[in-house]
Amino acid sequence: MNTDLPPGPRTPRSLQTLRWIVRPTAYMEECRRRYGDSFTLEIANEGQWVFLTHPDAVKQVFTGDPRLLHAGEANVVLLPVLGTHSVLLLDDAAHMRQRKLMLPPFHGDRLRGYADTMREVTQEAIAAWPLGQPLGTRPLMQALTLEIIMRTVFGVQDEARKARLGAALSELLRWGSDPRRVALGLALGPQRSIRLGLFRSVLQPADDAIHEEIAAHREAGGLEDRDDVMSLLLQARHEDDNAPVRAEPGPSRTAGEPMSDQELRDELMTLLVAGHETTATGLAWALERLVRNPDALERLRDGDDDYADAVVKETLRLRSPISLVLRRLQEPMEIGGHELPAGVNVVPCIYLMHRRADVYPDPLAFRPERFLEGQGGTYTWIPFGGGVRRCLGASFAQLEMRIVLQELAERFELSAADRRPERMVRRAIISSPSREGEIVARARPAARSETSALAA
Ligand code: HEM
Repeated sequence: MNTDLPPGPRTPRSLQTLRWIVRPTAYMEECRRRYGDSFTLEIANEGQWVFLTHPDAVKQVFTGDPRLLHAGEANVVLLPVLGTHSVLLLDDAAHMRQRKLMLPPFHGDRLRGYADTMREVTQEAIAAWPLGQPLGTRPLMQALTLEIIMRTVFGVQDEARKARLGAALSELLRWGSDPRRVALGLALGPQRSIRLGLFRSVLQPADDAIHEEIAAHREAGGLEDRDDVMSLLLQARHEDDNAPVRAEPGPSRTAGEPMSDQELRDELMTLLVAGHETTATGLAWALERLVRNPDALERLRDGDDDYADAVVKETLRLRSPISLVLRRLQEPMEIGGHELPAGVNVVPCIYLMHRRADVYPDPLAFRPERFLEGQGGTYTWIPFGGGVRRCLGASFAQLEMRIVLQELAERFELSAADRRPERMVRRAIISSPSREGEIVARARPAARSETSALAA
């Protein structure tokens, strides 16, 4: 088959990589303007990235055969931290087996069961926020989402162990979000990063703390009465799916087997890395947008859950923490009118899709109502990716964001510390607000009178 890649810049690979690392949003917009709905970038150690921004092409990828569109292989840069068993890094049958084990805690009643903890943690955390002065919300949200993950996912009850785990995990995440280290990791590639022990000094304390927690769970028993994700994963058993389990790459499995400690460690680390900073950044962006859109903030205060969900959706549309997802082609394939060769990465581009004026009229306006009017669909609202790789924590994250925002709107008057909007800047692979989502919070007169009524 004759293959043809979509057009793209002709500058050297190193320069394209640099522009991608330093100013990703400006570079993507420029490429779309110059080359159209599909374009190709050359990225160091990654090869060709074929960006797709048309809904039909994105649908083709999300509904395509996952055996030919490997996501795990394309995420391999995360291997040194997440480990070989991570659901994010596996493909084919090994991926589906691991994904099936991990789905139950993130759906239905199980998920709703976490709402009370989310609310409790939020109330405790925001009660300590200083009032009347500029606050960078991203780090505050990060502390909050970490606490929520430690309670709902890791199920840590002992305060000393929680402090140890929290410190080790925050240090690891802080270390890994330095752009210089991301650039170094990209330049070295995952195997060399592991060999050179690039992450060892920060990874070891986090690993020790996670293993300590797994051991504590096993020792304490009574797992069936607990509802944290770790307890559920400890009880989960691999299914007999008649797949030729030992004939393929990735961890081998026997039906009825529980997860090994190493598997558990890798999946817990995956949930932490995938779910922590993404949600915290989404929350900081929601506040950044809300304080500049007082009507939306006022309406959020009415307590209507549908409107609050729409606020979350509109935030994740206009300020999606992740700007793209990757799939590596295993065979040549026609996508978006191009015959793409095996080995390239196809890249459904969240950032550019969410700014299409034909899907979202007045795309740069923050208008949560658009989601109540039915805008956005499976292949056009894609902050959580799609298909068999769609984010496992999508419902968890949206529930958490709604609860935190409702609590904040209820308790505080919120305003911008500086009226200029914040720019999207890169923190590792996440698009963050340039001034950390800075706001000023003041006690609400209504909240004050409610408090005094309660006191009376
Ligand atoms: C606003 C918050 C979040 C955003 C924007 C987000 C976004 C994403 C994206 C874009 C992907 C890749 C999907 C694809 O390749 O098609 C993903 C995968 C994943 N996310 Fe999230 N995520 C968020 C929160 C969470 C949370 C809270 C958790 C868990 C506690 C989580 C766990 C995962 C896992 C395990 C995967 C891998 C799924 C697979 O490969 O099968 N995420 N997420």
